[in-house]
Amino acid sequence: MCGISGVVSAEDVSLKLKDSIRNLEYRGYDSCGIAIVNGAGTVVKKNIGYVNDVAEKEAFSDVSGLTGIAHTRWATHGRVTKPNAHPHSCCEGKIAVVHNGIINNHLKLKKELLQAGHSFISETDSEVVAHIIEDGIKRHGLDLEDAFVSALHKLDGTFAIAMVSGDTPGKIFCGRHESPLIIGVGENENYIGSDFNAFIEFTKNAVVLDDGEYAVVSNESYSVKKIKDGDYISKSITVIEWDKEMAQKGGFPHYMLKEIHEQSDTISNVLEIPEPEIKAIASAMLDADNIYLMGVGTTYYSALVGQYYLASTAGVMAYAVSSDEALEAVPIKKGDYVIAISQSGETYDTLRGLRYAKKNGAKTAAIVNVVGSSMSRLVDSVIMQGTGPEICVVSTKVATAQMATLIRVAIEAGVLSKKITLAKKKELLKHLKSLPKAVSDFLNEHSGFVHSLANRQADYDRWLYLGRGVYYPVALETALKVKEVAYHHAEGMPAGFLKHGTIALIDEKIRSMVFVPPVAEKEIYKLTISAIEEIKARGGTVAAFHSSDSLAKSGLLDDQLQLPKTNPFIAPILMLVAGQLYSYFVATTLGRNVDKPRALAKSVTVA
Ligand code: AGP
Repeated sequence: MCGISGVVSAEDVSLKLKDSIRNLEYRGYDSCGIAIVNGAGTVVKKNIGYVNDVAEKEAFSDVSGLTGIAHTRWATHGRVTKPNAHPHSCCEGKIAVVHNGIINNHLKLKKELLQAGHSFISETDSEVVAHIIEDGIKRHGLDLEDAFVSALHKLDGTFAIAMVSGDTPGKIFCGRHESPLIIGVGENENYIGSDFNAFIEFTKNAVVLDDGEYAVVSNESYSVKKIKDGDYISKSITVIEWDKEMAQKGGFPHYMLKEIHEQSDTISNVLEIPEPEIKAIASAMLDADNIYLMGVGTTYYSALVGQYYLASTAGVMAYAVSSDEALEAVPIKKGDYVIAISQSGETYDTLRGLRYAKKNGAKTAAIVNVVGSSMSRLVDSVIMQGTGPEICVVSTKVATAQMATLIRVAIEAGVLSKKITLAKKKELLKHLKSLPKAVSDFLNEHSGFVHSLANRQADYDRWLYLGRGVYYPVALETALKVKEVAYHHAEGMPAGFLKHGTIALIDEKIRSMVFVPPVAEKEIYKLTISAIEEIKARGGTVAAFHSSDSLAKSGLLDDQLQLPKTNPFIAPILMLVAGQLYSYFVATTLGRNVDKPRALAKSVTVA
């Protein structure tokens, strides 16, 4: 996601404009820029890099004016380059826009504008907005406000857009559809922003725009109207109770909790990935001799979840490979297909595995979160998972987004391999589309139960984490979370593996956490219950995540979290969200630094 901000005042805005966009940098920091309206018209300064660096490099302080907008970018369309940084200008340079969101029909709009004689500088979808507004004025004789609204009518997709024009100093035009946008109400000065962070140090009085609304903001007033028909809307002022630090975390005490709660949105983002991109990966899989899903740490577990879904949904064998062992364990060759999975796109081990794959002639792809990352430039094709910046060092929302992406690939591969019909695809996509709401409902209604379980178990620090089938990587990833943030020794393993030796560990000093499939998954449900009974038969203590009424009342468990029943197709991902939240509460119960745990780095770019 990106951050947009704006300031309109009776005094020079350049310093506040820089501060406002720097406060939004956690939303994305590939590149940034400002546009200020003054006697010289509309002055745009932008470049790649962090706000402070770009402000110095581009001499933001040399530009003064009473009206300005700004942007910090988390690239979705177009590489991380200076031309692709926002603000974007029209041909004449009078109109400047900043945008957060995705314009699905930008190619069609761009084609029409090129035919009308407009010329483009960037590869982004956002630039079309500046040219549509200019076209409305020059070719259709609209005034600036009507041209702005007419442009919003043309957009298909999600947007929070702000616009200024050298011909209309003293006014910011802004509108939103499914991307947040808020007005900050000051003294003889008003602000706009993607969230409260943009202006919380200047004012705590906010007017939150809703979807389908736009506003014209001057230093003395603001008016809010409907994009659809221009009707005025009266909006109440919300007084923000947060301080700046809390606002950056959206009111959450930690980024980890904020990002766990963002998963409803970030999984929705995955559902917006254009189907042709998903189909291309699925098609390349079916053409390959061998398929390898390569990741490390959490992203290896994302790969493992992908392996299970590709096997069950598409009948496709895709080997999950921990990239640190790829060269030694996997004879990748020409005709093979290697998909790297990585949040940063910079992980040393996964880059090493990818280079090895390319050297051996394999076809490569990547599912990454950072546009312009090394992996995204190294592979033959890339899927941007669009999760936005993950500030907490431990990965939560990125993992479920990667898994949801691989589930979409598995569905497409299933149709191509004729393992599933188009009707089945429709049914599975319907289940996947129900996941965001299932996640937000769970977090809203069950967080207290998760917290209680964590409180009861936080003092025990030796664990076996067990799961069968796709619940095995769910167990692995939850174990990794608990290791990372609570510093507990949690060993993840297949539940069926326990009786082949590890069961010798069972005594009163070690506990078992079991991730139980839904009852509807009859075979692996029964086998998981067998593993629980084997532990209990040796005097072991067992806690479980499950959704079974009979198991809840069986007396078999020493502790438990009963999840709401969901469709088995999405149940593993929901259980992982529960596991993430559990690890968070164990860590906070123990007073750990959950956002920056000891010894960890967000991106391990070294051997
Ligand atoms: C973060 O919680 C993970 N523990 C860490 O293993 C991470 O997944 C791994 O380092 C890979 O990073 P990447 O996704 O940036 O490639």
